[in-house]
Amino acid sequence: MVSLRTDVGTVALDRPGMVASGIMDETGPSLARMIECGCGAVVTKSVGLEPNAGHANPCFTEVPGGYVNAMGLPNPGIELFAEEMEVAVKAGKVVGSIYGASPEDFSKLAGRMEDYGACAVELNLSCPHAKGYGMEVGTDPAMVRAIVGAVKSSVSIPVWAKLTPNTHILQDIGRAVQDAGGDAVVAINTLKAMVIEPEFARPLLSNRFGGLSGQGVRPVGVRAIYDLRTVLDIPLVGVGGIYDWRDAAQYIMAGASAFQIGSAVGSVGPEVFSQVNKGLEEFMKDYGYDSISSMVGAAHE
Ligand code: SIN
Repeated sequence: MVSLRTDVGTVALDRPGMVASGIMDETGPSLARMIECGCGAVVTKSVGLEPNAGHANPCFTEVPGGYVNAMGLPNPGIELFAEEMEVAVKAGKVVGSIYGASPEDFSKLAGRMEDYGACAVELNLSCPHAKGYGMEVGTDPAMVRAIVGAVKSSVSIPVWAKLTPNTHILQDIGRAVQDAGGDAVVAINTLKAMVIEPEFARPLLSNRFGGLSGQGVRPVGVRAIYDLRTVLDIPLVGVGGIYDWRDAAQYIMAGASAFQIGSAVGSVGPEVFSQVNKGLEEFMKDYGYDSISSMVGAAHE
Protein backbone atom coordinates (compact mmCIF):
# COMPACT_ATOMS: atom_id res chain seq x y z
CA MET A 1 0.00 0.00 0.00
CA VAL A 2 1.51 3.36 -1.00
CA SER A 3 0.43 6.74 0.32
CA LEU A 4 0.67 10.10 -1.39
CA ARG A 5 0.08 12.09 1.79
CA THR A 6 2.91 14.37 2.80
CA ASP A 7 3.77 17.14 5.24
CA VAL A 8 5.33 20.52 4.60
CA GLY A 9 6.26 21.13 8.23
CA THR A 10 2.93 21.36 10.04
CA VAL A 11 0.88 21.61 6.84
CA ALA A 12 -0.45 18.10 6.13
CA LEU A 13 -1.41 17.43 2.52
CA ASP A 14 -3.44 14.47 1.23
CA ARG A 15 -1.63 14.79 -2.07
CA PRO A 16 1.83 16.28 -2.75
CA GLY A 17 0.84 18.58 -5.66
CA MET A 18 -0.39 22.16 -5.36
CA VAL A 19 -1.45 24.71 -7.95
CA ALA A 20 1.42 27.19 -8.23
CA SER A 21 0.75 30.87 -7.71
CA GLY A 22 -0.51 32.58 -10.86
CA ILE A 23 -2.56 29.81 -12.48
CA MET A 24 -6.33 29.45 -12.07
CA ASP A 25 -6.11 31.11 -8.69
CA GLU A 26 -7.42 34.66 -8.88
CA THR A 27 -11.00 33.91 -7.89
CA GLY A 28 -12.64 31.80 -5.21
CA PRO A 29 -14.47 29.57 -7.74
CA SER A 30 -11.30 28.90 -9.80
CA LEU A 31 -9.37 28.03 -6.63
CA ALA A 32 -12.20 25.73 -5.52
CA ARG A 33 -12.30 24.08 -8.94
CA MET A 34 -8.58 23.32 -8.81
CA ILE A 35 -8.88 21.77 -5.34
CA GLU A 36 -11.35 19.29 -6.83
CA CYS A 37 -8.79 18.27 -9.50
CA GLY A 38 -6.54 16.27 -7.18
CA CYS A 39 -4.26 18.84 -5.59
CA GLY A 40 -3.34 18.78 -1.93
CA ALA A 41 -3.66 22.58 -1.75
CA VAL A 42 -3.88 25.64 -3.96
CA VAL A 43 -1.69 28.73 -3.86
CA THR A 44 -3.39 32.04 -4.65
CA LYS A 45 -2.21 34.60 -7.18
CA SER A 46 0.15 36.96 -5.34
CA VAL A 47 -1.90 39.65 -3.61
CA GLY A 48 -0.66 43.10 -2.56
CA LEU A 49 -1.94 45.86 -0.30
CA GLU A 50 -3.70 47.84 -3.04
CA PRO A 51 -5.62 46.85 -6.19
CA ASN A 52 -3.23 46.56 -9.14
CA ALA A 53 -4.26 46.41 -12.81
CA GLY A 54 -0.96 44.81 -13.87
CA HIS A 55 0.89 45.49 -17.10
CA ALA A 56 -0.70 46.40 -20.43
CA ASN A 57 -0.95 43.75 -23.13
CA PRO A 58 0.96 41.96 -24.51
CA CYS A 59 1.89 40.48 -21.15
CA PHE A 60 2.09 36.79 -22.06
CA THR A 61 3.51 34.72 -24.92
CA GLU A 62 4.14 31.07 -25.68
CA VAL A 63 7.69 29.89 -26.45
CA PRO A 64 8.94 26.38 -27.23
CA GLY A 65 8.42 24.34 -24.04
CA GLY A 66 6.72 27.04 -22.02
CA TYR A 67 5.64 30.62 -21.57
CA VAL A 68 7.11 34.05 -20.94
CA ASN A 69 4.86 36.32 -18.89
CA ALA A 70 4.94 39.74 -17.30
CA MET A 71 1.41 40.04 -15.96
CA GLY A 72 2.61 42.71 -13.53
CA LEU A 73 1.11 41.16 -10.39
CA PRO A 74 -2.53 42.03 -11.22
CA ASN A 75 -4.83 41.55 -8.22
CA PRO A 76 -7.78 43.21 -6.49
CA GLY A 77 -5.83 44.08 -3.32
CA ILE A 78 -5.92 42.25 -0.02
CA GLU A 79 -9.19 43.74 1.28
CA LEU A 80 -11.26 42.73 -1.74
CA PHE A 81 -9.55 39.33 -1.89
CA ALA A 82 -11.48 38.42 1.28
CA GLU A 83 -14.46 37.33 -0.81
CA GLU A 84 -12.37 35.01 -2.99
CA MET A 85 -10.76 33.44 0.07
CA GLU A 86 -14.15 32.89 1.68
CA VAL A 87 -15.18 30.66 -1.23
CA ALA A 88 -11.80 28.94 -1.61
CA VAL A 89 -11.15 27.93 2.01
CA LYS A 90 -14.53 26.15 2.11
CA ALA A 91 -13.23 23.86 -0.65
CA GLY A 92 -9.84 22.94 0.85
CA LYS A 93 -6.40 24.10 1.87
CA VAL A 94 -5.33 27.48 0.53
CA VAL A 95 -1.84 28.95 0.71
CA GLY A 96 -2.01 32.75 0.48
CA SER A 97 0.66 34.21 -1.79
CA ILE A 98 1.56 37.84 -1.04
CA TYR A 99 3.96 40.45 -2.38
CA GLY A 100 5.19 43.67 -0.82
CA ALA A 101 8.11 46.07 -0.78
CA SER A 102 8.98 45.97 2.92
CA PRO A 103 8.73 43.83 6.06
CA GLU A 104 5.75 45.98 7.14
CA ASP A 105 3.85 45.34 3.88
CA PHE A 106 4.43 41.60 4.12
CA SER A 107 3.39 41.51 7.80
CA LYS A 108 0.09 43.31 7.13
CA LEU A 109 -0.70 41.08 4.16
CA ALA A 110 0.17 37.89 6.03
CA GLY A 111 -2.08 38.91 8.91
CA ARG A 112 -5.01 39.34 6.53
CA MET A 113 -4.34 35.98 4.86
CA GLU A 114 -4.33 34.38 8.31
CA ASP A 115 -7.67 36.07 9.12
CA TYR A 116 -9.07 34.71 5.84
CA GLY A 117 -8.21 31.12 6.81
CA ALA A 118 -5.06 30.45 4.74
CA CYS A 119 -3.23 27.32 5.94
CA ALA A 120 0.13 29.02 5.23
CA VAL A 121 1.42 32.17 3.64
CA GLU A 122 3.83 32.15 0.68
CA LEU A 123 6.03 35.25 0.40
CA ASN A 124 6.69 36.21 -3.20
CA LEU A 125 10.39 37.14 -2.98
CA SER A 126 10.97 36.14 -6.55
CA CYS A 127 8.91 37.79 -9.30
CA PRO A 128 11.70 38.57 -11.81
CA HIS A 129 10.29 41.73 -13.38
CA ALA A 130 8.31 43.85 -10.87
CA LYS A 131 9.95 47.16 -9.89
CA GLY A 132 10.52 47.27 -6.13
CA TYR A 133 9.01 43.83 -5.48
CA GLY A 134 9.77 40.14 -5.93
CA MET A 135 13.40 39.38 -6.61
CA GLU A 136 14.38 43.03 -6.10
CA VAL A 137 13.78 42.42 -2.37
CA GLY A 138 14.32 38.66 -2.48
CA THR A 139 17.97 38.56 -3.59
CA ASP A 140 19.32 40.46 -0.59
CA PRO A 141 19.76 38.02 2.32
CA ALA A 142 19.52 40.82 4.93
CA MET A 143 16.20 42.00 3.49
CA VAL A 144 14.92 38.42 3.23
CA ARG A 145 15.83 37.84 6.89
CA ALA A 146 14.03 41.06 7.88
CA ILE A 147 10.88 40.21 5.90
CA VAL A 148 10.63 36.60 7.08
CA GLY A 149 11.39 37.61 10.68
CA ALA A 150 8.73 40.33 10.64
CA VAL A 151 6.09 38.02 9.17
CA LYS A 152 6.96 35.26 11.63
CA SER A 153 6.35 37.61 14.53
CA SER A 154 3.00 38.76 13.19
CA VAL A 155 1.25 35.48 12.26
CA SER A 156 0.96 32.00 13.68
CA ILE A 157 0.38 30.19 10.38
CA PRO A 158 3.47 28.71 8.64
CA VAL A 159 5.55 31.10 6.55
CA TRP A 160 6.91 29.85 3.22
CA ALA A 161 9.32 31.89 1.10
CA LYS A 162 9.28 31.49 -2.71
CA LEU A 163 12.76 32.15 -4.06
CA THR A 164 14.18 33.13 -7.41
CA PRO A 165 16.68 31.17 -9.51
CA ASN A 166 18.00 34.50 -10.86
CA THR A 167 20.88 34.67 -8.39
CA HIS A 168 24.20 32.99 -7.64
CA ILE A 169 23.54 33.12 -3.87
CA LEU A 170 20.43 30.96 -3.66
CA GLN A 171 21.83 28.95 -0.75
CA ASP A 172 22.59 32.13 1.22
CA ILE A 173 19.05 33.35 0.64
CA GLY A 174 17.69 29.97 1.73
CA ARG A 175 19.78 30.21 4.91
CA ALA A 176 18.39 33.69 5.54
CA VAL A 177 14.85 32.26 5.37
CA GLN A 178 15.72 29.43 7.75
CA ASP A 179 17.65 31.66 10.20
CA ALA A 180 14.68 34.03 10.40
CA GLY A 181 12.37 31.16 11.37
CA GLY A 182 10.80 30.51 7.95
CA ASP A 183 8.88 27.23 7.82
CA ALA A 184 9.60 26.22 4.22
CA VAL A 185 11.30 27.34 1.02
CA VAL A 186 9.52 27.14 -2.33
CA ALA A 187 11.75 27.11 -5.43
CA ILE A 188 11.75 28.22 -8.17
CA ASN A 189 9.90 31.20 -9.61
CA THR A 190 10.41 32.04 -13.30
CA LEU A 191 13.70 32.86 -15.00
CA LYS A 192 14.05 36.48 -16.13
CA ALA A 193 13.57 36.42 -19.90
CA MET A 194 12.90 38.44 -23.04
CA VAL A 195 11.34 37.75 -26.45
CA ILE A 196 12.08 40.16 -29.34
CA GLU A 197 9.89 40.58 -32.44
CA PRO A 198 12.35 41.06 -35.33
CA GLU A 199 9.72 42.66 -37.58
CA PHE A 200 9.15 45.43 -35.06
CA ALA A 201 12.70 45.49 -33.68
CA ARG A 202 11.39 45.60 -30.11
CA PRO A 203 10.62 43.33 -27.19
CA LEU A 204 7.25 41.60 -27.53
CA LEU A 205 6.05 42.13 -23.95
CA SER A 206 4.91 45.61 -22.97
CA ASN A 207 7.13 45.31 -19.90
CA ARG A 208 10.06 44.21 -22.13
CA PHE A 209 11.21 41.64 -19.53
CA GLY A 210 9.19 38.70 -18.34
CA GLY A 211 9.58 35.36 -16.60
CA LEU A 212 10.14 32.03 -18.38
CA SER A 213 8.21 29.02 -17.08
CA GLY A 214 7.53 25.53 -18.44
CA GLN A 215 9.47 22.40 -19.30
CA GLY A 216 12.70 24.27 -20.13
CA VAL A 217 13.14 25.54 -16.57
CA ARG A 218 12.72 22.15 -14.88
CA PRO A 219 16.43 21.21 -14.68
CA VAL A 220 17.14 24.62 -13.15
CA GLY A 221 14.43 24.05 -10.54
CA VAL A 222 15.56 20.53 -9.73
CA ARG A 223 19.14 21.77 -9.30
CA ALA A 224 17.91 24.61 -7.06
CA ILE A 225 16.05 22.19 -4.78
CA TYR A 226 19.06 19.87 -4.70
CA ASP A 227 21.37 22.76 -3.74
CA LEU A 228 18.96 24.01 -1.07
CA ARG A 229 18.58 20.53 0.41
CA THR A 230 22.33 20.34 1.00
CA VAL A 231 22.28 23.42 3.27
CA LEU A 232 18.77 23.61 4.79
CA ASP A 233 16.83 21.52 7.31
CA ILE A 234 13.41 23.14 6.75
CA PRO A 235 11.03 21.54 4.22
CA LEU A 236 11.26 22.41 0.53
CA VAL A 237 8.54 22.70 -2.10
CA GLY A 238 9.64 22.21 -5.73
CA VAL A 239 8.14 24.12 -8.63
CA GLY A 240 9.13 24.70 -12.24
CA GLY A 241 8.26 22.68 -15.34
CA ILE A 242 6.40 19.74 -13.78
CA TYR A 243 4.30 18.16 -16.52
CA ASP A 244 4.15 14.51 -15.45
CA TRP A 245 4.97 12.13 -12.60
CA ARG A 246 8.62 11.73 -13.64
CA ASP A 247 9.11 15.49 -13.29
CA ALA A 248 7.46 15.47 -9.85
CA ALA A 249 9.62 12.50 -8.77
CA GLN A 250 12.76 14.41 -9.75
CA TYR A 251 11.86 17.28 -7.44
CA ILE A 252 11.01 14.90 -4.58
CA MET A 253 14.25 12.99 -5.02
CA ALA A 254 16.17 16.29 -5.09
CA GLY A 255 14.72 17.04 -1.65
CA ALA A 256 11.19 18.49 -1.96
CA SER A 257 8.42 17.25 0.34
CA ALA A 258 5.77 18.59 -2.04
CA PHE A 259 5.56 20.30 -5.41
CA GLN A 260 3.58 22.90 -7.32
CA ILE A 261 2.39 22.85 -10.92
CA GLY A 262 1.80 26.00 -12.97
CA SER A 263 2.39 26.04 -16.72
CA ALA A 264 1.18 22.46 -17.24
CA VAL A 265 -2.22 23.43 -15.85
CA GLY A 266 -2.40 25.64 -18.95
CA SER A 267 -0.94 23.25 -21.52
CA VAL A 268 -2.05 19.82 -20.22
CA GLY A 269 -5.13 20.98 -18.28
CA PRO A 270 -6.23 20.60 -14.65
CA GLU A 271 -6.20 16.81 -15.14
CA VAL A 272 -2.40 17.00 -14.87
CA PHE A 273 -2.84 16.54 -11.09
CA SER A 274 -4.73 13.24 -11.34
CA GLN A 275 -2.26 12.01 -14.01
CA VAL A 276 0.73 12.85 -11.80
CA ASN A 277 -0.91 11.24 -8.74
CA LYS A 278 -1.62 8.03 -10.66
CA GLY A 279 1.86 7.88 -12.17
CA LEU A 280 3.57 8.52 -8.85
CA GLU A 281 1.52 5.80 -7.14
CA GLU A 282 2.44 3.25 -9.81
CA PHE A 283 6.13 4.20 -9.70
CA MET A 284 6.18 4.01 -5.90
CA LYS A 285 4.56 0.55 -5.96
CA ASP A 286 7.02 -0.72 -8.59
CA TYR A 287 10.12 0.71 -6.90
CA GLY A 288 9.27 -0.02 -3.24
CA TYR A 289 8.58 3.48 -1.91
CA ASP A 290 5.67 3.31 0.53
CA SER A 291 5.43 7.05 1.21
CA ILE A 292 6.47 10.40 -0.23
CA SER A 293 8.78 10.89 2.76
CA SER A 294 10.66 7.70 1.84
CA MET A 295 11.49 9.28 -1.56
CA VAL A 296 12.42 12.78 -0.34
CA GLY A 297 16.08 13.46 -1.05
CA ALA A 298 16.71 9.94 -2.45
CA ALA A 299 19.05 11.39 -5.11
CA HIS A 300 21.45 12.61 -2.40
CA GLU A 301 22.15 9.10 -1.10
C1 SIN B 1 3.32 38.45 -12.65
O1 SIN B 1 2.19 38.65 -12.16
O2 SIN B 1 3.83 39.25 -13.44
C2 SIN B 1 4.09 37.19 -12.30
C3 SIN B 1 4.29 37.04 -10.85
C4 SIN B 1 5.55 36.31 -10.50
O3 SIN B 1 6.36 35.98 -11.37
O4 SIN B 1 5.77 36.10 -9.30
